Amino acid sequence: MSYVLGTYARTAKDNFVKGKGCYLYTDKGEKYLDFVQGIAVNALGHNHEHLVKTMKSQADKPWHISNLFLIQEQEKFAKRLCELTKFESVGFQNSGAEATELAIKAAVKYFYSIGKPEKNRILCINSSFHGRTIATISAGNNLKHTEGFPILPNFDHFDFGNHEQLKDKITEKTCAILVEPILGESGVKVIPEHCLKGLRELCDEKGILLICDEIQCGYYRSGKFFAHQYADIKPDIVPFAKAVAGGYPSGGCLFIKKVADCMKVGTHGSTFAGSPMAMGLANAVLDVMLKQGFDKHILQISKYFFDQLNKTQNKFPKIVKEIRGKGLMVGIQFFEEPSKFLNEFYKNKLITVKASDNVIRILPPLNVKKEEIDEGINIITKTLQK
Ligand SMILES: Cc1ncc(COP(=O)(O)O)c(C=O)c1O
Repeated sequence: MSYVLGTYARTAKDNFVKGKGCYLYTDKGEKYLDFVQGIAVNALGHNHEHLVKTMKSQADKPWHISNLFLIQEQEKFAKRLCELTKFESVGFQNSGAEATELAIKAAVKYFYSIGKPEKNRILCINSSFHGRTIATISAGNNLKHTEGFPILPNFDHFDFGNHEQLKDKITEKTCAILVEPILGESGVKVIPEHCLKGLRELCDEKGILLICDEIQCGYYRSGKFFAHQYADIKPDIVPFAKAVAGGYPSGGCLFIKKVADCMKVGTHGSTFAGSPMAMGLANAVLDVMLKQGFDKHILQISKYFFDQLNKTQNKFPKIVKEIRGKGLMVGIQFFEEPSKFLNEFYKNKLITVKASDNVIRILPPLNVKKEEIDEGINIITKTLQK
């Protein structure tokens, strides 16, 4: 019997006691190929040397001093991240849901601050995912997550890909459009580049803000630092989290100047956000990711992975409906509900995770090697052959 709140369907009860790169090891010495990595969190794999070293050295410094004081690691990371992404300001949070909450608050606050308080509605995609707080489940509008909860009234929704509905739903009260450039939990659905461009144009035309939730698809998961960069656009607000500190809880939101300017002392805050440990690790993640060739590797290995997966689909056309995704954010869509495949992959020592739309998601570390991709493909093929 467990005292832990029963809100999770655990894949298995194995006790993982060691992790290295692509692999997890149980207390019984069994080795698993981890193609989930804490749901796109451990972008550099388990226990990356540079992160372990950073954490150990941070442990000797003050762990927590709160945002009442200047945090050097935070200042350093904020400068690096803003210079890299060409945003003017960044606010820190501890998780993805909090990061999206901050994005929502800032969008509404911006219009309030310019004397348009009636502009306080956010337009989102039906059954998307932005977190589990009241505001973020209201944004996602997925009955699985909202049922029985008091959802906020300030959200409107359109169906993925329905341009007419999108335009119809914009009113005088709309302040922002919020989308994931690649929808993760909803089934690894990529918003085409021309649609992202169109969204930017539409927001400019209507004088509203564009928020791109890069919590799952950001941080090179798609092959570019942010997935929206494929469309060569700049959103106004970008929440990010997951991979930021390589496995340590952290997140935040990037802002263009006019939005950042409306967030004044006391407008928002968090006890833990941007702690020395989180920010030390966030800097360490950037140290590794910004080394020459890091992104090139992702694009090369992704191409190889998709080629192999497409061959697999051709071998099993009655089982696999579609291979989707971008970079190392990969979805295998099945014709039927895929739990049995997920369980069989696991029995064969491959860790994957489900998404909506009959999809199994594959999120290997971004430094995954060709041999590890081959190992994963072999397990998938062997499993589907049965
Ligand atoms: C796109 C997106 N936004 C927000 C979240 C929420 O992040 P967290 O679980 O850290 O609150 C997630 C988590 O999966 C996500 O994928």
